[in-house]
Amino acid sequence: MKNIPVVMIIFGGSGDLAHRKLYPALFNLYEQGLIHDNFAVIGTARRPWSHEYLREQVSDAIHETHDQVDENDVKRFASHFYYQSHDVTNVEHYETLKKLAQELDDRYSAQGNRLFYMAMAPRFFGTIATHINDQSLTGSGFNRIVVEKPFGHDLASAEELNKEITASFNEDDIFRIDHYLGKEMIQNIMPMRFTNPLIKNIWTSENVKNIQVTLAERLGVEARGGYYDTSGALRDMVQNHIFQIITLLAMPEPKDLSSSSIHKAKQDLLESMIIPTPEEVEKDFVRGQYLGSDNTFAYKKEPNVDPESTTETFVAGKVKFKKGPVADVPIYFRTGKEFKEKKNRIDIVLKHMNNPYGQAHSNNITIEIDPVSKIYITINGKKIDTSGIRRENLTYEFSKEEMAKVPDGYERLLHDVFVDDSTNFTHWSELKRYWEFIDTVEDAWQKENEKGNPKISQYLPYRMGPKEASDIFESPTEHWIYE
Ligand code: BG6
Repeated sequence: MKNIPVVMIIFGGSGDLAHRKLYPALFNLYEQGLIHDNFAVIGTARRPWSHEYLREQVSDAIHETHDQVDENDVKRFASHFYYQSHDVTNVEHYETLKKLAQELDDRYSAQGNRLFYMAMAPRFFGTIATHINDQSLTGSGFNRIVVEKPFGHDLASAEELNKEITASFNEDDIFRIDHYLGKEMIQNIMPMRFTNPLIKNIWTSENVKNIQVTLAERLGVEARGGYYDTSGALRDMVQNHIFQIITLLAMPEPKDLSSSSIHKAKQDLLESMIIPTPEEVEKDFVRGQYLGSDNTFAYKKEPNVDPESTTETFVAGKVKFKKGPVADVPIYFRTGKEFKEKKNRIDIVLKHMNNPYGQAHSNNITIEIDPVSKIYITINGKKIDTSGIRRENLTYEFSKEEMAKVPDGYERLLHDVFVDDSTNFTHWSELKRYWEFIDTVEDAWQKENEKGNPKISQYLPYRMGPKEASDIFESPTEHWIYE
């Protein structure tokens, strides 16, 4: 693997994301030689940490995520880290940061390459991007920026943020990260769809009855009530993860596997996305909020949540496209906190076919993303001792050993940033369409809230969300496959 020279600046270097995800992922890339001798990382945050203290934190993060490590490697890796206490609104602090970046660039021969990582509260993204430009923090080599979600709160704020970022960076150098696109089974959707005639040929509006995407979470909002109450399930999970999954499921086959062809195929699809009317939102969308149990809080009683909150912790809805292989096929989705279990899965439900046996089931293709990774197709066959029909699964599954080798999503995606591959990042044109859709639903809900009697289904924890989620199907022969 090529050693990529770079000075990386992490805004939010003392935070949870850096500790849990970025430092371990960078260590793995270091061990593989992708970043090695010619890299330095500057962690910034308000806290008055020292270089040494950050290095201890980095070392702890490695030990917490790796069973066995070579202590000398950890020490050597951590020695590339530097800490700069930083107030994101203070111009002088950017000057100091710029000087440090330049010094480290010289010391590590980083060839003027800079990678900026926005790993802090999203309200600061725009300010930081503006200062990167105004105080000329960019280097003479490549300049890339990784932006965490949420990218805006609605279309208007996303446009504003995009304007601030594109003032310093080209679209090709902006990596809007969605960690779902780094997941093994999400990356498996395209090869599965496009390399198997068996699957590709039935992936059409004639054959597919509906598609269902479920991202269910076992836990509640935990310590993130403050953020979550301003977001809700629609913005937190649908605007990004669910829409990216749906795009991969419904897009036409790209001309080739280049990043530009893949984004082009996504864009072609998204231009044909049908934005619902307020009446359709009322009919096709369900929002819910979890109640409490003996050992869990109701959402409204969670710390930092407004006791009168109308923020949804569950949403189910429908999307359709006018173009693409599954044009006009309903794609249903649902996501929520406090479900009975963590389960991320996709079900492709095929149409029923008349047959002389009468009793055969239709075939479904299921892709389980988390916590297990597998694909299975339900298939009919003959029962051994009767003329009846039995239903079995044809399963494609990873072994434990294979699963252990699957890199974490962040490791994959950081790797892609270093090698300048933006295939698995969100392009602005995609994000824009996603927000257009989300804004319409949010507006309709807002109007309902203002009328004083919003329809928010309360649901019990440790179950399957509100029962009203079954009301969104177009036909009485449809139902959630995962129940
Ligand atoms: C994040 C959301 O983007 O995704 C969280 O902000 C959610 O609310 C998380 O819990 C789920 O990710 P995963 O990988 O655990 O399914």
